[in-house]
Amino acid sequence: MIVNQNDKVRTDQWKITPHVLELEASAIREILKISSQPGVISFAGGLPAPELFPLEDLKEALASAIAKYGPNCVQYSLSMGITPLREMVARRVTEAGAKTEISNILITAGAQQAIELVARAFIDPGDYILTEYPTYIGALQAFDYYRARYTTVEMDDEGMIIEQVEEKLKKHKPKLIYTVSNFQNPTGITMTVPRRKALIELAMKHNVPIVDDDPYSDIRFAGEELPTLKSLGGDVIIAINTFSKVVAPGLRVGWMNAAADTLVYFEKVKQCTDLHTNAPCQYMIYEYVTAGKLEPHIEELKVDYKVKRDLMINTMRETFPDGIKWTEPEGGLFLWVELPKHMSAKELLPKAIELKVAYVHGEPFFPDRQGANTMRLNFSNATHEGIVEGIKRLAKLLKENM
Ligand SMILES: Cc1ncc(COP(=O)(O)O)c(C=O)c1O
Repeated sequence: MIVNQNDKVRTDQWKITPHVLELEASAIREILKISSQPGVISFAGGLPAPELFPLEDLKEALASAIAKYGPNCVQYSLSMGITPLREMVARRVTEAGAKTEISNILITAGAQQAIELVARAFIDPGDYILTEYPTYIGALQAFDYYRARYTTVEMDDEGMIIEQVEEKLKKHKPKLIYTVSNFQNPTGITMTVPRRKALIELAMKHNVPIVDDDPYSDIRFAGEELPTLKSLGGDVIIAINTFSKVVAPGLRVGWMNAAADTLVYFEKVKQCTDLHTNAPCQYMIYEYVTAGKLEPHIEELKVDYKVKRDLMINTMRETFPDGIKWTEPEGGLFLWVELPKHMSAKELLPKAIELKVAYVHGEPFFPDRQGANTMRLNFSNATHEGIVEGIKRLAKLLKENM
C-alpha cells in the first residue's frame, strides 16, 4: 500500500453532487429497519407472504433454464430482455385485453427500474408530474432525483377526481401523468372504468403520456375484473408491471409496455443503467410461467390475501374506536387508514413500536408531506395471529390517543 494506514482519507470532503446529498432516505426503509426487530408485528412493508414463495418450483425452473439454455443463461444478454420472456409477456398482456407485440416490451429490473427509466427519459429539473394524492413513495423518490415538481389530484373511492385533472393539466403542463390504477399503493383504491376513460381522453387531448404502474391488478380477490388503462388507451399509456408481487420481488424482473418508437429511448437509458436485466432470473421466470405454475400460484395468493384482508378489516371493525375510516380494497396488499384530523400517525409510531406493532405513516406518500393523520397497513405479510394481535395493539394505542 502506498498510503500510510494512519492517513485518514477525507471522504467527507468528496464532491458528491448536491442533489444526491439532499436526497431523503426512504421513510419506509427506515421504518422497516425498526419493524424488523424481534417480536414486532409489522404491517409496514409491502412484502408478499414469505411462506407462499414457490421455492421448489423456482428451483426446478432455474435448473430447467440452465439445462436448456446453458451458457446463454449467464452470458451478457440483450438490453430489451430475453426474447422468449418478451414474447411471453406480450402474449399474456394481449390475452388480458391490450394488443401487444414483442416490440412493445422492455424487460426491466422490477417495476421500480421502469419508473426510473421513465423519470430519466422525461424529467428536466422543475418539470411537473401529475400524480394521485397520495401516491407510491418509490415513484416520488425516482422523480425527486430528477428534481420534478408535482401537481396532484385527490382521490375518492373511484380513483382520481377527474374534474381536478384538466385544471392541473392546463395550469402546470405536466410532462407525465403517473397513476397506480389498481389497488393503489398506498390507499388500495382502484380507478373505475368511467374514470379510466375520462383520464385517457384528457391525456389524448393534452398529449401527455399516462404512466400506469400496475403491479397489483393480477391480485384481485373480490369484485369485477376491469380493463387495464393500456387496453383502453393504447399508445398514450406507458404501462409498467412486474413479477415481484406474483412470483417474488427478489428476482427483480418487471417490464414496460410502450409504443415501440418510444421504447427505443428507454432501451438506451437502460443500457446506461445496467446493460440488461439479470439473465438467469429472466430465464427462470420464463420457465416457471411456461411450466404452467404462475396461474395456480396467483389463485393461491388471492385466496390467502383475501382471508388476511378480511381478518384485518373484521378485527378493525371490532376493536377500532369510532371516528376512524379505512379503505376496503378488492385486491393488492394494502389498506389505508384515516385518523381524525387532530391525530398524527407519525407521532404515534414510536408508541406503536413500543407496543411491538408497526405501520407506515402516510406523510411520505404525499409530495407536500401532508396527511399526518393517515397510515398504510399491509395485510399480506403478517400471519393470521399476527394480524389479529397487531390490530388489537393498534386499537389500544388509538383509543388511548383519540
Ligand atoms: C406501485 C408500485 N410500483 C412499483 C413497485 C416496485 O416493484 P418492483 O419490486 O417490481 O420494483 C411497488 C412495490 O411495492 C409498488 O407498490
